[in-house]
Amino acid sequence: MPKTYKVIQWATGVVGSAALRSVVRHPKLELVGLKVYNDDKKGRDAGDIVGIDRTGGIATQDVDEIMAQEADCVLYCPMPWSLEEICRLLETGKHVVTPCPYWFPFVQNPDTAAAINEACRRGGVNFHASGCNPGGIAERFPLTFTGWCNRIDRITMTECGDCSTYSSEGVMRELMNLGKTPEQAERSPIKAMLAKSWNEPIDMIAEGLGSEVVSYEAKHDYILAAEPIETAVGIIEEGTIALNHYRHIGRTREGTEIVQEQIWYVDDIQQNRLQSKMDLPRESGWRIKLEGDVNLDIDIDFPPELNQDQRVAQGLSTTAFHVVNSVPLVCEAPDPGLKTFLDLPMITGCMGTHSTKR
Ligand SMILES: NC(=O)c1ccc[n+]([C@@H]2O[C@H](COP(=O)([O-])OP(=O)(O)OC[C@H]3O[C@@H](n4cnc5c(N)ncnc54)[C@H](OP(=O)(O)O)[C@@H]3O)[C@@H](O)[C@H]2O)c1
Repeated sequence: MPKTYKVIQWATGVVGSAALRSVVRHPKLELVGLKVYNDDKKGRDAGDIVGIDRTGGIATQDVDEIMAQEADCVLYCPMPWSLEEICRLLETGKHVVTPCPYWFPFVQNPDTAAAINEACRRGGVNFHASGCNPGGIAERFPLTFTGWCNRIDRITMTECGDCSTYSSEGVMRELMNLGKTPEQAERSPIKAMLAKSWNEPIDMIAEGLGSEVVSYEAKHDYILAAEPIETAVGIIEEGTIALNHYRHIGRTREGTEIVQEQIWYVDDIQQNRLQSKMDLPRESGWRIKLEGDVNLDIDIDFPPELNQDQRVAQGLSTTAFHVVNSVPLVCEAPDPGLKTFLDLPMITGCMGTHSTKR
């Protein structure tokens, strides 16, 4: 009988709820605990909270209770996240997987990497950060395709999409700057943290190519709302950011340029409610572009029959499912520590209980 893993779900926002539902379906995982923040979720069955059959797992707000609970792994999905909390969980002997940072902190945040590694060593466990972007598009998938190339001049990852139905206040207004004035966005203490978060996957790609980044650059452009725009997190007021265009660029020792580009906006493709228009590369989805002796455009898109709500929901489900599907591999990885995609075997979906050991 293959091993199953006891899992605690930490937070049930958009990503955490999708993660919880997929844990219940996953044949190698068992939900044993749930940490929530909102008062109206406290004491309720996990299944009731996310609209599935009752699970028997009751939600608690008590951090100490979760710390003391026996489990193999915690799916850590809050907004905002806390390094201190992550390290505490690791020290209790529970693996941690998360869509939050830190994907590859060794260069941008060496002290953080050291703290996580030390907590892993004390708990005899592993930490792994995953997701969609970062945690897939930004590093795992482009690195896979570099295996088809020899000389690489530039690697560009572009994410583009109308986010108006994404209901995370924290992600939309803080991380994506939507609804801020450009002055607020430029002065935000989060700006430096965001740059590091996008530089981490740049560093991981460089490391995967056997190189290192010698220079970093960041470019931020904004387009403002021409009128109030209704979104899932309330009105984006006229004169505030309604399209956020980020580029974080790293250049390796050998001159390969690695570009992380995001275009997040709250309008349809016509952009009639914005003060000016951007020449959008696509309506929504992702492009991974490799330039060199092999030139590849890898487009990842949603089928046209999906509506806007479904596109955003499925994009966020990929984040949750990638994290959940990594749990058995993270729990089985040898040598306690911070594990990146460069350390783990291939992460796949799981439909059955057949052992993957060959
Ligand atoms: N890597 C990727 O591709 C990717 C993509 C999307 C999101 N993310 C990250 O995933 C995390 C979850 O995103 P999301 O879309 O699920 O966000 P969300 O919908 O805003 O959910 C966050 C949850 O955090 C909990 N929370 C409330 N107040 C909190 C506080 N003061 N401190 C800590 N947690 C609090 C709540 O849990 P309860 O409702 O259970 O009370 C809330 O629902 C975020 O950190 C985000 O940055 C990563």
